[in-house]
Amino acid sequence: MIADLIIYNIKKIYTPYLNPPVRGKDMNKIKVIANPFIAVKDGKIIYIGTGSFENYINEKTILHDALNKVCLPGFIDSHSHLVHAGSREDEFALLRKNVSYLDILEAGGGILGTVQKTRKASFEELYMKAEKSLDIMMMHGVIALEAKSGYGLDLETEVKQLKVSNKLNGNHPIYVKSTYMGAHAIPKEFKNNRRKYIDQILSDMKYIKNLGLANSIDVFCENGVFSLNETEEILMSAKELGYTVKLHADEIEPMGGTKLGIKLGATSVDHLMASSNEDIILLGKSNTIANLLPGTSFYLRKKYANARYMIDNNVAISISGDYNPGSCPTENFQLIMHLAANYLKMTSEEILNAVTINPAYHMNIYKNKGSIEKSKDADIILLDIDNLDYLFYHFGINHVSDVFIKGKLVVKDRKVLRSK
Ligand code: NIG
Ligand code: FE
Repeated sequence: MIADLIIYNIKKIYTPYLNPPVRGKDMNKIKVIANPFIAVKDGKIIYIGTGSFENYINEKTILHDALNKVCLPGFIDSHSHLVHAGSREDEFALLRKNVSYLDILEAGGGILGTVQKTRKASFEELYMKAEKSLDIMMMHGVIALEAKSGYGLDLETEVKQLKVSNKLNGNHPIYVKSTYMGAHAIPKEFKNNRRKYIDQILSDMKYIKNLGLANSIDVFCENGVFSLNETEEILMSAKELGYTVKLHADEIEPMGGTKLGIKLGATSVDHLMASSNEDIILLGKSNTIANLLPGTSFYLRKKYANARYMIDNNVAISISGDYNPGSCPTENFQLIMHLAANYLKMTSEEILNAVTINPAYHMNIYKNKGSIEKSKDADIILLDIDNLDYLFYHFGINHVSDVFIKGKLVVKDRKVLRSK
């Protein structure tokens, strides 16, 4: 078969190869191929081999010289709060004075501050800000992203946010999967009537499902936010409507969210900084992925999830960015990967599985994405590094020079290419 793209002169490919979810000790296994070329046709990988690519080319084939760079599957970031207005550097000043994240929220700031700004923002303002963030993420190697709503807390604004993320999916090269997260906080106008707000979420979920704006539901299950019972009620009715479910679990205080997620068959339970050992053992026996977000621990100066104990107990881990204005304001996914190495103490191989095939699994895109394998999408990144370990060691800078998404060059020499 003749390829329309050949990427050649690759130093090494490092890729996951096991069927997901890749769990426990298997997370340390990846495949390494020295000096290969990759042949791509119609956005799909048709061949990975060494030696000559003569048989795969004709005069129309684009030949891309990888200049002896390292090649990885593009990163998949399965937890973000992409679409929002404004920023919260004022709060960062308070965090430095040791005011807590939950106290800021209790005082009407935090998420609720961003809600006010997001309600006022136009669709175009939200779109342009989110698009800019997606560009930065893509320059850092991200090719797929989950994006939650949750800064409207009223139907109109939640729909506005979801329409932004849905429009970006398709208009921007990054694949964007939208999640409805009306259960992110109790809005001010319902402060004294939680029940009424929960009823509103239950009805808005139906509306959003009918519009086809989201297929998954997330709840912030946390002390002072949504209780365990409230979370269960919302996620149970989400499942009845045909949504997949996930939750922010045991982020700040151990609330039992991990156990609830397992019981409900959640695709992932996210954060887990405060999960008990008993919950982690249960997680290792379930199909729910532990989605760890070390950037949040770093920024809020909280403890880190116990990734080593999870791996020892056969848990499947993914690592995500949690990009948001309040607890992790960065689009640099490689910095998040450094934190996974340095603070979660994961190996380079474990992290590679955790930022590619495992998030692809719980986002249900693993048949096409998450590894460099024949017949999958050609989501390929080239990095100016000598070996995989170097990526995690030399931190805070961007090592990615080129990004292909479905065989299309979208970042070249560190610059985003705009399609005409
Ligand atoms: O994942 N935990 C809740 N949501 C975000 C923070 C959102 C915000 O502070 O704006 C998180 O940490
Ligand atoms: Fe989050």
